[in-house]
Amino acid sequence: MASFTLNGQATTADVDPAMPILWVVREKLGLNGTKFGCGIAQCGACTVHLDGQPVRSCSTPIAEAEGRAITTIEGIGGPEGELTAVQQAWVSEQVPQCGYCQSGQIMSATALLRDNPSPTDAQIDAAMAGNICRCGTYTRIRRAIKVAAGQIEPRQEEA
Ligand code: FES
Ligand code: FES
Repeated sequence: MASFTLNGQATTADVDPAMPILWVVREKLGLNGTKFGCGIAQCGACTVHLDGQPVRSCSTPIAEAEGRAITTIEGIGGPEGELTAVQQAWVSEQVPQCGYCQSGQIMSATALLRDNPSPTDAQIDAAMAGNICRCGTYTRIRRAIKVAAGQIEPRQEEA
């Protein structure tokens, strides 16, 4: 049995304490926005926040979340589904291609901007280095982070 907060809700799960957080949230609790990529903490597709810090949920046992707060991609917006600045920028900059890596990318970007609201290119690259995108959306990811940070204007939709 594990007890933790999941996206603001007190939650218990009857699972092996060694089960990775990824499988608890996806298979036991039905939140499938968090993706399985490599399973060995190398790609970042499974990134969630644990007490606000990005962690690789494929390689972090649920025991580490005991009494702590897990936040998944489903939990970062407002209570009525309002998008965060990062999510809005992902839309305006049309970041995703296949989309598979993007919830992990957004979780890493969200943590970066909370800790550093005006990151430089080098700081963006360093913070996002652990999130791999097989579609190669890196340029748009960097641009969206700058839009969300208010450093540049979002692209306008074409009329
Ligand atoms: S699935 Fe967790 S880092 Fe790749
Ligand atoms: S958008 Fe396809 S893997 Fe990143």
